[in-house]
Amino acid sequence: MSGTIDMKRIKTALLGAGRIGQEHGRNLVSIPFVDLAIICDPVVEAAKVLQNQLRIEAIVEDPESIFRDSTIQAVVICTPTDTHADLIERAAKAGKAIFCEKPVALELVKTQKALETVSSTGVPFQIGFQRRYDSGFAECYRRIKNGELGRLDQFRAVGRDPEPPPKGYLAKSGGLFLDQAIHEFDIARFLMGEVEKVQAWGSARFSVDARDLGDVDTAVTLLQFKSGALGVIENARQSAYGYDIVTEVFGEKGKILVQAELKTPLRYYGQEGGQFDHYPFFLDRFKEAYKNELESFYRAISCSETPTPGVQDAMESLRIGIAVTRSWKENRAVNIDEVI
Ligand SMILES: NC(=O)c1ccc[n+]([C@@H]2O[C@H](COP(=O)([O-])OP(=O)(O)OC[C@H]3O[C@@H](n4cnc5c(N)ncnc54)[C@H](O)[C@@H]3O)[C@@H](O)[C@H]2O)c1
Repeated sequence: MSGTIDMKRIKTALLGAGRIGQEHGRNLVSIPFVDLAIICDPVVEAAKVLQNQLRIEAIVEDPESIFRDSTIQAVVICTPTDTHADLIERAAKAGKAIFCEKPVALELVKTQKALETVSSTGVPFQIGFQRRYDSGFAECYRRIKNGELGRLDQFRAVGRDPEPPPKGYLAKSGGLFLDQAIHEFDIARFLMGEVEKVQAWGSARFSVDARDLGDVDTAVTLLQFKSGALGVIENARQSAYGYDIVTEVFGEKGKILVQAELKTPLRYYGQEGGQFDHYPFFLDRFKEAYKNELESFYRAISCSETPTPGVQDAMESLRIGIAVTRSWKENRAVNIDEVI
């Protein structure tokens, strides 16, 4: 009997047991139709810790055996960004369904090549833009599609992390616009439609690492959408009170604000005044979304549907990120069509 049930579970390998790999690993073992069979990480200790926590059968240091194992149907790629394109190509050629963390790569040509392999092999592919699976953003999207805001005129987003990531991560991240702000660019496209032109300013105000690396820690991006609507995005790598994500869409019939204020549904009032808590980090704020996006990926492949967000979303968010980075570096407005 249990054999019958097991056969329907999708045998999966998790690549990368770091920050986001651990979160995805915990979610994978909680999805009934997923069989997380193997964890791959060249840092054996990282893989072992997660293996013990999740009671996973096997760990490997090199993904090659995973690609050669025809019983593994899906891979969840949570490795550093500079390894994604190569792993996607190898997984696609091996016929695996692919969930990959954002972004595919920092360069357009590398991204195009990997995604062409995905398209030509026809394997299912989903990119890790989890905000689309947050109940607030999903409901905002539903209401916009339902026409509840009428014509969309303005978009506003704030994305602030509690503190900058370690220097080693920053060095490989592609910079604030391609690493952090790319989530805002994806949500801007998701809710408002395609972007036509961008203009950005950035500044290294508090992070010595960002300054040393020629990166920024504080930024503002202006967007002009193809529809004629306008947008503004503020990003910071540091926020004294924790993770700060706010998005507002303003239209002819009203506006929608997506903002999660309280982590705990409680406010305390005492002699020192009022107190309430706040989401400290992205793993808390988007806990539900990280699980939802994986469930959706596996549901799509089980039903032979196309997972979303997919190849085009991965490409277009990167094109915006590259255009914005260029705008900041060259101090001019950049048309997205320049990025080819
Ligand atoms: N969607 C999100 O909200 C979100 C959040 C954090 C990170 N990310 C993305 O996830 C990726 C990983 O970020 P992180 O913060 O978890 O990094 P991390 O450095 O904490 O973890 C990466 C892990 O991958 C391992 N690794 C390196 N090369 C490998 C290979 N070839 N095969 C298997 N494992 C390998 C490393 O040893 C490490 O344990 C990045 O691309 C990042 O942009 C996305």
